[in-house]
Amino acid sequence: MSPRLVPAGADAVGRTETPLTITVDGEPLPGVAGQTIAGVLLAAGRRSWRAGPSGAPRGVFCGIGVCFDCLVTVNGARDVRACRRRAADGDAVITQSRADGRAERAEKEER
Ligand code: FES
Repeated sequence: MSPRLVPAGADAVGRTETPLTITVDGEPLPGVAGQTIAGVLLAAGRRSWRAGPSGAPRGVFCGIGVCFDCLVTVNGARDVRACRRRAADGDAVITQSRADGRAERAEKEER
């Protein structure tokens, strides 16, 4: 997975230039239709958005849905693989951390 945005005309999957905006921990980030949430984050310059149990930063590792390093909460649904989920306009993404219980607090706030 590359943070570089390929022009729509050269994109093999037929991506369009339809803009979208997601929020990540309340911060609006721009993207285009067809990008994954991880793609939007990488294009915005973010290389990590989760912390493992030791506090070590995590982001995209495999990029194909196998390692679960990229987990985020999307619209209240926990443990969504950011590399597999296409971003949709208005998605509210909350980063997760196993180091400080932040994801659990976010889930409780949703209730
Ligand atoms: S980066 Fe491995 S599952 Fe998303």
